[in-house]
Amino acid sequence: MNETIIENALSLAKKIFDGNSDGHDYFHTVRVYKTATELARSENADLEITALAAILHDVDDRKLSPETCENKKNAFDILNELKIDSEKQNAILKIISEVSFVGTDSPVPESKEGKCVQDADRLDALGAIGIARAFAFGGSRGRQMYNPEIMPVLNADSKTYSKIENSTSVNHFYEKLFLLKSMMNTEKAKEIAEKRENFMREFLDEFYAEWNG
Ligand code: ADP
Ligand code: NI
Repeated sequence: MNETIIENALSLAKKIFDGNSDGHDYFHTVRVYKTATELARSENADLEITALAAILHDVDDRKLSPETCENKKNAFDILNELKIDSEKQNAILKIISEVSFVGTDSPVPESKEGKCVQDADRLDALGAIGIARAFAFGGSRGRQMYNPEIMPVLNADSKTYSKIENSTSVNHFYEKLFLLKSMMNTEKAKEIAEKRENFMREFLDEFYAEWNG
């Protein structure tokens, strides 16, 4: 893996995400990059493709950059600036298009590298950081933290999931986050997900206990 390319990719991604406050800040990108390359080492996946796809996985995210999500302009421009050859670019752009959770019928990435990036991104939605990100994201979109009168939409496929409106950040745990453990591609990520999900369930037990006085 060419360290200079990775460092340059990180600093270009930093320009896009610096200061973001909805849970998609630059540090999310760095964590996904580190976790994805760690998974890639155990899976014998290509480290440079994994690293670049991880660093660029959110630069054209539908929620953050709806105007470039279809043509992936930000990723494309950065890959050209880094002089990545077109075969590698295609592999990376494909991974970026497969990575997001869209519902129970979310795509399973075809490549080993894609599987590692998807697992790393999903692991960052779990555990203590996952809890913090869910409330940060919910708050940024005007969502209520919790409202016992609003029920979660369970096991939604992409059609239903994309139409969920007026739900709460606590509901998001049931609508997405608790589905992720069984959707992990690699054994290592499954193990980490289990630990992080248990912590989230403990958090909710305490949350409800305090709520109910
Ligand atoms: P992915 O990275 O799989 O595309 P998202 O970008 O949807 O997933 O999720 C990124 C972060 O934002 C996660 O930590 C997730 O919990 C949070 N998030 C996404 N949608 C919501 C929501 N409706 N309410 C609260 N948090 C959300
Ligand atoms: Ni992400």
